[in-house]
Amino acid sequence: MSFTIAIDGPAAAGKGTISRAVAAHFGFAHLDTGLLYRAVGARVLAGADPLAAARALVAEDLEAEGLRAPEVAQAASKVAVLPEVRAALVDFQRAFARRAGGAVLDGRDIGTVICPEAEAKLFVTASAEVRAGRRYLELEAGGAQVSREQVLADVIERDRRDRERAEAPLVAARDAVEIDTSQMDIDSAVAAAIAAVEARMEGKNP
Ligand code: DC
Repeated sequence: MSFTIAIDGPAAAGKGTISRAVAAHFGFAHLDTGLLYRAVGARVLAGADPLAAARALVAEDLEAEGLRAPEVAQAASKVAVLPEVRAALVDFQRAFARRAGGAVLDGRDIGTVICPEAEAKLFVTASAEVRAGRRYLELEAGGAQVSREQVLADVIERDRRDRERAEAPLVAARDAVEIDTSQMDIDSAVAAAIAAVEARMEGKNP
């Protein structure tokens, strides 16, 4: 059986937590596609050419240390503007999406560009303030020296770049179910996501 769940949305909306929980619930594999761009961004910060880094990417690179750092997030959003970089990462993502047993992919363009034929599509959002607040707590817990203001400014800058780029901009697919997590705790957000996927599954015989 192949069943693809596409989960898109802006930075720090809760996509990662929701995607992992949805994948665990259905027994599907999960790919955080932001890690692909982060791995390329990290290589570029170390002096590599973006396209060469994207073409040379292997699965183990997604486990590299430091990919969650704020400067790597910004570098990822910058390399993600380049059409050639995006093109170099398409095959890996599509092969993952079609794997037997089902797959959850989260990112910015999964439901629109990578897997427009995905059986279930979610668009997870929250206000910039709520997202920055959550990211701040995460970074603080990890020992990072950052201010709330800086985290909010970073989130807003990354949103703008991700939404305004010409190639595969962040936008909800027309057939995506939107989940705004601003007023939800994580359990309610996960329950809403699972319910939305189950509603789509009813129409498909596995
Ligand atoms: O989801 P994330 O915060 O780890 O993503 C980091 C950056 O990578 C994000 O700001 C834009 C880019 N990205 C993308 O362009 N397309 C995706 N499918 C996933 C991430």
